[in-house]
Amino acid sequence: MTDPGLAMTADAGRPSVRGSAPDLFDKFQPLIDQRAALLSTGLTDPFNLVMEKVESPTVAICNGKRTILLGTYNYMGMTFDPDVIAAGKQALDEFGSGTTGSRVLNGTYQGHRECEDALRDFYGMNGAMVFSTGYQANLGIISTLAGKDDYVILDIDSHASIYDGCGLGNAQIVAFRHNDVEALEKRLKRLPAEAGKLVVLEGVYSMLGDTAPLKEMVAISKAHGAMVLVDEAHSMGFIGEHGRGVAEAQGVIDHVDFIIGTFSKSVGTVGGFCVSNHPKFEILRLVCRPYVFTASLPPSVVATAATSIRKLMSDTGKREHLLANSRRLHGGLKSLGFQLGTEEPQSAIIAVIMPDLERGAAMWEALLHEGLYVNLARPPATPQGMTLLRCSLCAEHSEAQVGDILAMFEAAGKRVGVI
Ligand SMILES: Cc1ncc(COP(=O)(O)O)c(C=O)c1O
Repeated sequence: MTDPGLAMTADAGRPSVRGSAPDLFDKFQPLIDQRAALLSTGLTDPFNLVMEKVESPTVAICNGKRTILLGTYNYMGMTFDPDVIAAGKQALDEFGSGTTGSRVLNGTYQGHRECEDALRDFYGMNGAMVFSTGYQANLGIISTLAGKDDYVILDIDSHASIYDGCGLGNAQIVAFRHNDVEALEKRLKRLPAEAGKLVVLEGVYSMLGDTAPLKEMVAISKAHGAMVLVDEAHSMGFIGEHGRGVAEAQGVIDHVDFIIGTFSKSVGTVGGFCVSNHPKFEILRLVCRPYVFTASLPPSVVATAATSIRKLMSDTGKREHLLANSRRLHGGLKSLGFQLGTEEPQSAIIAVIMPDLERGAAMWEALLHEGLYVNLARPPATPQGMTLLRCSLCAEHSEAQVGDILAMFEAAGKRVGVI
C-alpha cells in the first residue's frame, strides 16, 4: 500500500515526500466528525437504508420490518403498474439490456423515439429530448443555452442540478430570493437589455413542497426579454388540467420556453427530459454535452417510461386521490402540533421542520421503528439551514395508510419530544 505521505514527482516518476501537502479528504473532516458523533449514539444511519424487498409503491421491507414508504417521490405509483412492467420486459427481451452508446451514435433505438413522441403528446409540444437523468437534463440544457455573455437568473433555493448546470456553463449567474416576484423583477431590471437571459424556475420546490408564483414570474421574465425554463419534476402527472404541471395550472405553459422533467418521480423509472416549442430546439442534440457524451437509457427503461407517460395522460381519479391524501396528511400533522414547510398543502410534498439535526435524526429513526420511511434532509440541501423530514405521498396510499402514518408520527413525535 502507498504511504499517504508520499506523492509522485513529475520529473523523476519516483515517490518523494511532500510532508505539508494536505490530504484531499481534509475538507470533509467536519462532516466526518458530525456523522461519527451521530452514529456513536447508536442511531441507524439515515443515509444508508437498505430496502430488502419492495412489495408495492407504498410498502417495503426495511430491517426485516414491513414499512410504509412516505419518501419516494413515486407520486403516481407507476413502478408496479402491470402495463409498465410488461412493456419493460418485452423491450428487454427484444432489444437487450442496454444500448452501450450515446444518443448521437448507436444509442437511439425505436424506444427512445417512442418515448420522445409520448412526451410531445403529453405536453402538447413539438420538441422533446430524453436524457439519461433529470439531473443531466438540467445540467445540459442550462449550460448549453446560456453562453459566455448571457445571464441565468435563478431562485436561490433551486435544485442542485440547476446550480450544477450553471457551474458547467459560462454564463453570469444572478440569484433572487426564493419565490419573490419583486426580487426577480429587480434583478432583471438591472441586467443589460441586449444580453441573453434565461430565467430558471421550479413548479414545486422539493424541500418545502411550495409552488412558485409562475403566473407573475413568467410575465415579468417575458417583459424583460428573458427565456423561461421551468423544472416540473415534482408536479408532472397530477398538477394542472392535463397533469403538465404548475405552469399549466397557473395558465402560463404557452409562455414557458423549456420544461424540464424527470422519469424518476411520477413516471416511476429513471431518466430526464426537456420539451420545448422552440423552432431550433433540435440543434441541442448536437451541442449539449451531457446529452452527447454519455450512454443512452436502456431499452427497457424507455419502454417503461413511454408506457407510463401515456397512461398518465388520462386522469383515472388518481390525481384527486393523491391531492386529497396530501391535504389529509398536512391537516393531520398540523393538528398534532408539527411545524410544516407550508401553511396550506401546495403539492404532494409535506415537509416537517425539525428543531435540529440531532432531533431530526432521532425522529427519523423513531418513525422507522414505527414502520414508516420518510426522507431526512439537512443543510446544505435544505433552505435556511433547516433539518426536514420530507414526506411525499403516492396515489397508491390508501386513506387507512394515511391514518396509520399520522398515528406513527404522533407516537414518534411524543417519544422524541418534538411535539
Ligand atoms: C427539481 C428537481 N430537478 C431535477 C431532479 C433530478 O432528477 P433525476 O432524479 O432524474 O436526476 C430532481 C431530483 O431530485 C429534482 O428534485
